[in-house]
Amino acid sequence: MEFFIDGVPMQAEDGQTVIQAARANGVDIPHFCWHPELSVPGNCRICMVEVEQEKGDPWFDIACNMPVTEGMRVLLHSEKIVRLRKQTMQFITLNHPVDCGICNKSGECTLQDFHYAHNGQASLSRDAKTHATKFFPLSDRIMLDNERCIMCTLCVRFTNEVSQSKALCAVNRGDHALIRPAEDANFDNDQYSDNVIDLCPVGALLSRQLLDHARVWYLQPTRSVCPGCERGCSIDIWHRKPEWALRALDPRLNTRIDRVTPHENPEVNGLWVCNKARDLAALFERPRATQATLGGAATDLATATASAARLIAAARHPVALVSSWGSNEELAAFATALAPHVQPFVKADHLPLPGEVVEDHLLIKPDKNPNRRAALALFPALPGTLAEAITPQTDLVLVWGEGFDGSAVPAGARVIRLDAYADPVQAQADVFIPVSIQTERSGHYTNFAGVVSPFTACFAPAAGIAHAEELFRAIGLALAPAVAGALTGPAA
Ligand code: SF4
Ligand code: SF4
Ligand code: FES
Repeated sequence: MEFFIDGVPMQAEDGQTVIQAARANGVDIPHFCWHPELSVPGNCRICMVEVEQEKGDPWFDIACNMPVTEGMRVLLHSEKIVRLRKQTMQFITLNHPVDCGICNKSGECTLQDFHYAHNGQASLSRDAKTHATKFFPLSDRIMLDNERCIMCTLCVRFTNEVSQSKALCAVNRGDHALIRPAEDANFDNDQYSDNVIDLCPVGALLSRQLLDHARVWYLQPTRSVCPGCERGCSIDIWHRKPEWALRALDPRLNTRIDRVTPHENPEVNGLWVCNKARDLAALFERPRATQATLGGAATDLATATASAARLIAAARHPVALVSSWGSNEELAAFATALAPHVQPFVKADHLPLPGEVVEDHLLIKPDKNPNRRAALALFPALPGTLAEAITPQTDLVLVWGEGFDGSAVPAGARVIRLDAYADPVQAQADVFIPVSIQTERSGHYTNFAGVVSPFTACFAPAAGIAHAEELFRAIGLALAPAVAGALTGPAA
């Protein structure tokens, strides 16, 4: 149907509200309490619009709860609406402390933006502001500043309607109203709790982990994929902008993951991610392996690569355990360069941790590896028992990635390991080569449903660390003459 915003004709679908139809036509109506995936409480009133009538006075209503009708003429910028919006902002900021200077939401706060866009004037109230608890621990992960809360109830509705933990509620009324944990629920058990930090339009809900780590304008996002399970949620990894690099403090702060937020992707995760994605810094920033070794003694990458190729060329029954954290590009390079020379099997690098949610109603999937589907499309799965893959005849085992303790390797068999994180077993390998992690390389993962998502490098790897894709190509090139020589040369 046709309707009009400020005289401009637009199209709306049956049943759409004014705010939905406006967005579909590229017009954003100011809102605090409305969210496209949550119910409509209509409590902030900032989305008020004027509707012109053919006869009689215009009327005023909230765009988030008013259905569009054929020919409806909506005004967003009439004199009355501009005044109403200003008054609404005066009311919403009545008790809000003006502590933007110390607020972690500063720079991406909707209240700040709307104050400048629609009010821009100091408070007209002569009454003292109502004070409330500044630091209320809502859970082990989230701190609540009650004074900044504008009671939009987005957080409460998220736990009722999306995560379904029903862990939050509102208590008291008027300017005494407070967000609180629900009596019979524990917000710590909500696997999606950190989404309320993004949802909160003000700095009332803050990550306790990230509190006071960095101002948002010092950071930039890089598109990535959460490797926490086979869902492969699209995410943004936030890290320090090069122009704001710290010089006097620990240089590692410049290559730290400061926070992780969902990257909207309707095909994979919609607008949300689970808390495992928020904790990727702990996973990625474990102690790294940075030195190639031969039998535990340090060597350079070129020597280690040549040695690996020699061991593979000399082996009669070599087996390779392929990482299900490898990117599509790395897996393809492995298939081309190495698979003709070894018997490959796909292994799980990570299994569910004790107490970890294995699967749920929303996003979390049972396989805790991001790319097993793509790996299985190229190579067979590791059999149920390792003994079916690694037999007494196996004379070489190449292990790519984590999740293999080495006890199944037959005595006398040679071992090549490629891993990103430090592990004492690496010193026992005949050849060890450190490889880059996801935040240091670009590529794609294919999730459980076959959707391919990209990730991009945020940081450069340290010197001495190889990119697996290049490494496989180099080993393949070294193998070609070595294998040809083994076939045509004199018997050793
Ligand atoms: S804590 Fe934030 S999201 Fe929750 S009601 Fe208050 S302002 Fe809204
Ligand atoms: S559902 Fe899986 S992929 Fe998505 S954020 Fe959680 S662990 Fe990561
Ligand atoms: S967005 Fe419409 S009342 Fe809050």
